[in-house]
Amino acid sequence: MGKALLDVLTGKTPDRRPVWLMRQAGRYLAEYRAVRQEAGSFLDLCYKPDLAAEVTLQPLRRYDFDASIVFADILVVPHAMGSDLKFVENEGPVLSLVRNMDEVNALSDAKGAWQFERVYETLGKVKAGLAPHVTLIGFCGAPWTVASYMIEGRGSDRAVALAAAAKAEPWFVRLVDRLVEISVSYLVGQVKAGAEVLQVFDSWAGDLPEALRGRWVHEPIARVVEGVRKAVPGVPVIVFGRGIGNGHAALARATHANAVSVEQNTRLSDVLNDLPSGVAVQGNLAPELLQDGGSAMLSGAEAICREVPMDRHIFNLGHGILQHTPPENVTALLEVIRRTDGRA
Ligand code: CP3
Repeated sequence: MGKALLDVLTGKTPDRRPVWLMRQAGRYLAEYRAVRQEAGSFLDLCYKPDLAAEVTLQPLRRYDFDASIVFADILVVPHAMGSDLKFVENEGPVLSLVRNMDEVNALSDAKGAWQFERVYETLGKVKAGLAPHVTLIGFCGAPWTVASYMIEGRGSDRAVALAAAAKAEPWFVRLVDRLVEISVSYLVGQVKAGAEVLQVFDSWAGDLPEALRGRWVHEPIARVVEGVRKAVPGVPVIVFGRGIGNGHAALARATHANAVSVEQNTRLSDVLNDLPSGVAVQGNLAPELLQDGGSAMLSGAEAICREVPMDRHIFNLGHGILQHTPPENVTALLEVIRRTDGRA
């Protein structure tokens, strides 16, 4: 069997419809919760390569996915730049604030950061444990999303970051520039450590007014992709601009992505019709449908498979798996996707 995910991203016909799920390693799995407890905190888990590799591989033991995504977090980048990062139970990430030029300049360039080295080590360990048909994905957050966490100090809202973006405050411009540069070297490091595909998460792209999207979503991601491809020509990239509705094709064109990941309230066939030939769509079953399971999930998944051909589609969710998803629902989802393969 070939690598179905890589095939779709490089314009080849896959043996079957590739599928993986965002947050496929995580709290919905009992074996994850056990290792997470052993590690101490979520960040400790990210930075212990043996344990991080173990939780990366856990979902692959249960499910025949086509991809594995390294267990880490988009906030590893600000952490490597010297931000004081903590994950607070039932609240999420808390970081030190960056809101002026002095604070931007005080951040480290993250060269040789131990945080990055740990993620590279995890990638090497995961790669050694993967079946040959499974593609290894590395990732980072897009500059806008990561900057917004650094500016707000948490994920709650983006009011200060939005104002800084709207006015193109010099310190904001400089923060984005620094994130572009560091993201390039982090992603290149991930490819050297074994990642075969990269995904860039712009989880808060939909919060920017459309008029600012070119400058703060398209441009920084395009610079990241260009920088990475200068060092590792041809590496396939998936870009996730969450919440941008009918803007996915423009994002693909601006960034030269090989695929765009699409949130659940957007019609995949509409995105596909707008995309340049050879660019694929990823998505977009609602995580709530996977959590509830049953016939609504099955018909939702079937409808997606009927709507887009498997040589231009990567089955995924519209966002990450919800914590209370019963693991057997994932088994049922994979069964229905596999049943549609023969009919494609
Ligand atoms: O399986 C995978 O998808 C790989 C690992 C992964 C995680 N986070 C693990 C994680 C990936 C790719 C991410 C990306 C990430 N992290 C994003 C972009 C994708 C998205 O969700 O929009 C964002 C915005 C973050 C920041 C982040 N990390 C938040 C806001 C939170 C807290 C919310 C929550 O779900 O608890 C995290 C924590 C986090 N990252 C968990 C996991 C498995 C839960 C941690 C735990 O075990 O308590």
